[in-house]
Amino acid sequence: MTSPNGLRGRTAIVTGASRGIGLAVAEELSRAGARVCVTARDAASVGRAAERLGGVALAGSVADPAHLRAVTELTLREFGRIDLVVNNAATNQPYGPLMDVDPDRWGAAFTVNVEAALRLAQYAWHGWMGEHGGAIVNVCTEGADHVGPHVGAYGTSKAALLHLTRQLAGELAPRVRVNSVSPGLVRTEMARFVWEDAEDELGAGLPLGRIGRPEDVARAVVWLASDAAEWITGADLLVDGGTRVRAAHGAGHAPHDRLRARAPDGGR
Ligand SMILES: NC(=O)c1ccc[n+]([C@@H]2O[C@H](COP(=O)([O-])OP(=O)(O)OC[C@H]3O[C@@H](n4cnc5c(N)ncnc54)[C@H](OP(=O)(O)O)[C@@H]3O)[C@@H](O)[C@H]2O)c1
Repeated sequence: MTSPNGLRGRTAIVTGASRGIGLAVAEELSRAGARVCVTARDAASVGRAAERLGGVALAGSVADPAHLRAVTELTLREFGRIDLVVNNAATNQPYGPLMDVDPDRWGAAFTVNVEAALRLAQYAWHGWMGEHGGAIVNVCTEGADHVGPHVGAYGTSKAALLHLTRQLAGELAPRVRVNSVSPGLVRTEMARFVWEDAEDELGAGLPLGRIGRPEDVARAVVWLASDAAEWITGADLLVDGGTRVRAAHGAGHAPHDRLRARAPDGGR
């Protein structure tokens, strides 16, 4: 992991950093010595985060290109450089079966979850990184690997973000490294509807025995952003408490329970 002050002198933009994973990333970056520019739509909460971290804040939506340009300009004006960009802000709407989804709301999800990451990368590249180098980390999701009920818009957009990460990694090398972190279920507001009232049960079903904390993801993001990961680009780092490997662990998936207990004829 990044040593304390390993990012001294660097400057980072973190979107969606007023709470949850984004706030934990901004805190971890600050602890490592970086100066941070944090964003979110709610001005009061993102302002409080910046004040606590000794950084700067700009309120606005990542869906608004003018906001993303302003974030880049503010960071350059205040700190004179942009070494790191963490594309973290996202929406899990519209929720529900795809046949019922309004395509305009579907498009809006892609604007927030995919297009904003490209735009901010472009602004940072043209404003600083293209000449001086840097690192970008996109926050995807463990769920982008497979399908799930009601999360078609979210999953499809995050799968696109994963692909964007790899494409940019190839295009921006060697100056800028581009990687992603894919969290499993983390105890934040966005996922409250999943874990509330079932936290212990959900944790018990995971190989590592609990659902995620924002800091679990933040440490991975900061490590990928740091020089410790200087030979890593285009990678996706799963931070999921073993979600993807749970089929080989303890109780769980009913068909696997049967596979565990029986063997086909002639089997041993
Ligand atoms: N929690 C999980 O289980 C989980 C799992 C996998 C992946 N993730 C990913 O982790 C990232 C962070 O999610 P989280 O769970 O930490 O969510 P969260 O606790 O709800 O925090 C989301 C943050 O993003 C901001 N935000 C939301 N929409 C925005 C927009 N359009 N423009 C700018 N800021 C915006 C929010 O502030 P405002 O509302 O004030 O804008 C807040 O600061 C997301 O990319 C999410 O997809 C989360």
